[in-house]
Amino acid sequence: MKRNKYVIANWKMNITKSPHKVIDGVSKHLLKTKKNSCKVVLCPPFTHLATLSTKYKNLDFGGQDCHQHNEGAFTGSVSAYMLKSIGCNYVIIGHSERRNYQKESNHELRMKLIVAEENKLKIVFCIGEKLNQLKIRDKILKKQLSALPSSFNTKNLIIAYEPVWAIGSGKTPSVDEIDRAHIKIRNILNQKYKRKSTNISILYGGSVNSKNSSNILGIKNVDGALVGGASLDKKEFCKIIDSSSR
Ligand code: PGA
Repeated sequence: MKRNKYVIANWKMNITKSPHKVIDGVSKHLLKTKKNSCKVVLCPPFTHLATLSTKYKNLDFGGQDCHQHNEGAFTGSVSAYMLKSIGCNYVIIGHSERRNYQKESNHELRMKLIVAEENKLKIVFCIGEKLNQLKIRDKILKKQLSALPSSFNTKNLIIAYEPVWAIGSGKTPSVDEIDRAHIKIRNILNQKYKRKSTNISILYGGSVNSKNSSNILGIKNVDGALVGGASLDKKEFCKIIDSSSR
């Protein structure tokens, strides 16, 4: 079966002097090229989401996180319901920076996954090992994937394999290592969801740029990329999008 390919921008909490310029460039590029076989999704900080998602109808937008409840006294948080109500169709859940700094547990992540699914958001669920966990990578991936509820609409699920040591470091695993990790993830998903797992796209993330994107996106078991730093630059990000179509 043919799975959807994605190139997803994760702007994190970076300050972009002119977010409209970057998005405008990406939007125009997509309208011009049209040949892109991948879905392009932008995940800017919450403060830009409402204006950007209203203005650029040919692009998809997502939140970088959501709370595990739809509403309530949770100062500083944004819910899946709120994301959906401003026109977002995607949400990133379980990014390693949140697992690390916000100490998000498997239990909390499972609640977020459920609430995001209930709100019909497409979920980009991030998993990946730390450098000191390389030898036990498969065990770590299995544990992180265990946060996924067994009954789940897999049509709304995307996995992003992001080795923590590759994020923002300029280092990436070899093509073979990425392929092996993706095969492992696919096997775990197959066991969990049986036939329903075939439509789950598995993306790679961690230091993807315009120089390595062709190689990475050309890997058989890689269905796209989650891009951090390189997505803040219009030209760089457009080149990555283009390399997904080759
Ligand atoms: P990076 O970040 O591309 O800057 O390494 C990727 C991510 O954290 O999603």
